[in-house]
Amino acid sequence: MKRSLTVMGNWKMNGTRGDNESLLRELVFEGKKFPSVEVAVFPPSVFIESVAQQLVGSPVRVGAQDLCEQLKPGAFTGEVLGAMLKELGCRYALVGHSERRHVYGETDERVAAKFVAAQHSGLTPVLCVGEQLAEREAGQTETVLDRQLLAVIDQGGVASLRGALIAYEPVWAIGTGKTASPEQAQAAHAHIRGLIAARDAKIANSICILYGGSVKADNAAELFAQADVDGGLIGGASLKASEFLAICAAAQALHDE
Ligand code: PGA
Repeated sequence: MKRSLTVMGNWKMNGTRGDNESLLRELVFEGKKFPSVEVAVFPPSVFIESVAQQLVGSPVRVGAQDLCEQLKPGAFTGEVLGAMLKELGCRYALVGHSERRHVYGETDERVAAKFVAAQHSGLTPVLCVGEQLAEREAGQTETVLDRQLLAVIDQGGVASLRGALIAYEPVWAIGTGKTASPEQAQAAHAHIRGLIAARDAKIANSICILYGGSVKADNAAELFAQADVDGGLIGGASLKASEFLAICAAAQALHDE
């Protein structure tokens, strides 16, 4: 039996009210079939409130795709404070997704500040880390992961990782259809857990490390079966109920084995 797995759906900038309603209707109906899997969806922020309302009474949780690094309200046009997301019903917040880092230029320091801000508001951060293709090819995968993780440990302390989640998402695998092999995922996850273990063995042992990057119904089981892979952060495949549910079912099956 594998410990409980987590499956999170990052909808990115997709969906309409109508799309969300039909997708959620299926998730709510079928979601009860995965009692040992923590399932969450991350809609665009404008839909969080209506999604949270539709999920009342369901075990499926809601998260935000991003938040502002500020700790208090103020003059920050266009930004969303963690406390606002919490008030709308969010449990989780992604921080440092590769699109935030590489399309919007977020630095390790800003990502770390967002991680701290999420916890300050009572949100559970999901820290996304991962190397770009050129970095992997140059043999720098572990250096990049260390840098991204240590930025958070420097700002928040290793204790801030208690209860948080990490998502290892190699940038070259996101939205490309090119998944990391189970061995590549396992090696990166073991490295991440090892870095934390060197500072706090208890936190390292309990922290949930998700894999993300072209996870689909037909590759989820072999990825999730790896010793240090505790579930997945799903992009494209989370927009289709049947695919997302099949991924949740793969997680439940591994738990039941
Ligand atoms: P993908 O996205 O599953 O579409 O590759 C994953 C992510 O960006 O979290």
